[in-house]
Amino acid sequence: MADSDDDDDVPQLSSHTLAALQEFYDEQQHRNTDPGEDNKYNIGVIEENWQLSQFWYNEETALRLATEAIMAAGKGGRIACVSAPSVYQKLRELKDEDFSVCILEYDKRFAVYGEEFIYYDYNNPLNLPEKLTPHSFDIVIADPPYLSEECLRKTAETIKFLTQGKILLCTGAIMEKEAAELLGVKMCKFIPKHTRNLANEFRCYVNYDSGLNSEVNYS
Ligand SMILES: C[S@@+](CC[C@H](N)C(=O)[O-])C[C@H]1O[C@@H](n2cnc3c(N)ncnc32)[C@H](O)[C@@H]1O
Repeated sequence: MADSDDDDDVPQLSSHTLAALQEFYDEQQHRNTDPGEDNKYNIGVIEENWQLSQFWYNEETALRLATEAIMAAGKGGRIACVSAPSVYQKLRELKDEDFSVCILEYDKRFAVYGEEFIYYDYNNPLNLPEKLTPHSFDIVIADPPYLSEECLRKTAETIKFLTQGKILLCTGAIMEKEAAELLGVKMCKFIPKHTRNLANEFRCYVNYDSGLNSEVNYS
């Protein structure tokens, strides 16, 4: 057992410094878990964590993918965003009530979105709550965290379980062959853009007739 006298050797922070430190941690916690009502759905309000392979779309891409999902889902349709939180945020920011949407995410900071948040780990692709019944979404939009066959294969299991048919996948250009084999999707001309420049070329893939197939956005 350590001698209680050892405590005398531990450097102590002053109460003033401790209070300042506590305030800093409280502020961080608040920023990470409670974005506030006004900007609750802003992209970036939950900051990127690169350890979780988080790279948010820019505004233009998030808006284009959100409107694509609404059009593809149809009036009153159901949309699932799998590992694609900024599409969810953009959908909610549009304040359109004519669809329902779920956000399936590994990062529990997104639990601030309440019942629409569903904890999801691609390693257990079918470990989903009972309320997510098979083939109950008109469209599933997914952006798996890693550019590997294993990650795409497992995420594809989830996608196929959830969708009634339509799939919009965003992933690296290098995954084209695997995406076609696993999900029957084809690369679109539209190129998704991120808030930061990524080293890997990213693309969208769909399995239905979509405007994304013909839209070219070089800028
Ligand atoms: C490449 S990012 C896609 C984000 C997308 N570009 C957007 O702006 O919404 C990958 C996403 O996968 C999530 N993720 C990380 N680990 C995961 C896991 N084990 N299972 C499922 N999703 C995971 C990250 O939190 C992140 O939202």
